[in-house]
Amino acid sequence: LFAGAYYRYKTEVDTVQEWYITNTETTVSHPLHIHVNSFQIISYNQYTGPYSAGKDGAWRLYDQATGDTCNYQFSGYDPDAEIEEPSDPLKYLGHEHRQDLTQEGTIAYVEPGEWRDTFTVPPMSNVTIRFVTDTYVGLVVAHCHILNHEDWGMMLAVDIVRQGESLDANLASDGAYPWSCMENPEPLGVTGLAMSSDIET
Ligand SMILES: *[C@@H]1O[C@H](CO)[C@@H](O)[C@H](O)[C@H]1NC(C)=O
Repeated sequence: LFAGAYYRYKTEVDTVQEWYITNTETTVSHPLHIHVNSFQIISYNQYTGPYSAGKDGAWRLYDQATGDTCNYQFSGYDPDAEIEEPSDPLKYLGHEHRQDLTQEGTIAYVEPGEWRDTFTVPPMSNVTIRFVTDTYVGLVVAHCHILNHEDWGMMLAVDIVRQGESLDANLASDGAYPWSCMENPEPLGVTGLAMSSDIET
């Protein structure tokens, strides 16, 4: 459940942010809404992370390549919970090819370059977004725009701080970093890219 000012990530004001938004679910899309700064959809990438199965708070992550249960799991993971395994978990992989808007069945994709405050994160996807932490410092809330999902905690808090302030935040969930499965690699970049006129889209 949402625990108030528990920052998953902190960054400085007036930096360019590049985030990878991923969805481990095998059949369900989620509309992600981010407050304060609009963002640009940059690309739909190949998704290499784990897939998930479960319901009502009992979820399990599986290795995409082998189907084995991941060593690293969400906070609150219960290894004894009964989970129904999905029959065709990789069915919706491949958004880097499906995003072609001239094809049928691509209604929820966004044209790369478009500015948004909300977009659909398809099942088994990995989408790059980019924005500037422009002018305002303080709390940024990011959440699923399906009301009961956000009420149940599909929401996180990011803090935009002044230049030079501490960037300490809770990047890991119960010791596991995002996308961890068999291994638990530390995220590569956790600070904003310097503002640069080289960064254009
Ligand atoms: C997401 O896409 C980026 C850019 O292609 C890639 O570096 C990263 O490994 C991908 N992550 C996952 C979990 O698929």
